[in-house]
Amino acid sequence: MKILVTGGLGFIGSHTVVELQNEGFEVVIIDDLSNSSDKVLDGITAITGVKPHFENLDLKEKHDVYNFFKNHNDICGVIHFAASKAVGESVQKPLKYYENNISTLVYVLKEVCQLKEQNFIFSSSCTVYGQADELPITENAPVKPAESPYGNTKQMGEEIIRDTCKVNSNLNSISLRYFNPIGAHPSAEIGELPLGVPQNLVPFITQTAMGMRDQLSVFGGDYPTPDGTCVRDYIHVVDLAKAHVVAVQRLIENKNTSNYEVFNLGTGKGSSVLEVIQSFDKVSGEKLKYRVVNKREGDVISAYAETSKAKNVLGWETKLTLDDAMTSAWKWEQKVRKK
Ligand code: WQD
Repeated sequence: MKILVTGGLGFIGSHTVVELQNEGFEVVIIDDLSNSSDKVLDGITAITGVKPHFENLDLKEKHDVYNFFKNHNDICGVIHFAASKAVGESVQKPLKYYENNISTLVYVLKEVCQLKEQNFIFSSSCTVYGQADELPITENAPVKPAESPYGNTKQMGEEIIRDTCKVNSNLNSISLRYFNPIGAHPSAEIGELPLGVPQNLVPFITQTAMGMRDQLSVFGGDYPTPDGTCVRDYIHVVDLAKAHVVAVQRLIENKNTSNYEVFNLGTGKGSSVLEVIQSFDKVSGEKLKYRVVNKREGDVISAYAETSKAKNVLGWETKLTLDDAMTSAWKWEQKVRKK
């Protein structure tokens, strides 16, 4: 069975391609290489022994999208990762984010609606909740006004899919709301490749330990949390990738209870910035240099998932720990910098 993975050479996309191949799926990747490299194909192939079919396409070119689906009308599932995802950049360049994240979704979804098998998995984010009123966060928590254009494109994306499912009963879709994806494949053949200065915590930690950054700035030390630093639900990217396989299989096997479903994907455990640093120091033997500075605009205080729906309905839960993720992130950083 053939699955299309858009953004399949990206961080979460590439790990999902590996897990799909491990389950015996034939995978086709579309990626425009705007935030990835075709070297990731070699990493995937090194892990699974199977080189996925790859097409370097810009999904903003709707005729290219149309032609692609005309040549691949036997696709039985689409997992749509392709999007720009830097929160800070989205505030500076909103039109880039609305054009890239919304028009590509519309063009891909229009073609999915012409397929015999219309199964669509959307890469969403816990960002849609903003600062939730209640913790842990369930799927019924209210979606709050987005704090960034990036977060707004995830909210709008979910609404576009939901509205389309309402008028097309042949379309079956699941939105997966990720918490904080971290780590790398244990083989260190693929991982997170932030281009430029990393915006996210874990790549900044590993690059600091590698000597590429002077020290980590911890954004805020007097939040109303146990140690004063922000709390997040850090989920190992391999666990997250496996959830995508379970979700697309759910639709292919018609196990979904409605044609539009939403699941939170997290560990259910909150970890503070200082706890992440402590985990890194423990697994790496390093002593990370950091200083506590002012809060970062737009950060929520605390966010972690209520995981019972994913466990009881989707039939998926995380297996890997924060230490596993920090171990794999460090092993990946060392491998990349040795090159
Ligand atoms: C985590 C914590 C920072 C960097 C965002 C998006 C989310 C998803 C993941 C795409 C926060 C602190 C960070 C640093 C720090 N992205 N931090 N120093 O902001 O929770 O989530 O990225 O899907 O949608 O919203 O992740 O890794 O940027 O920050 O202290 O140099 O680490 O303040 O508390 P975030 P993050």
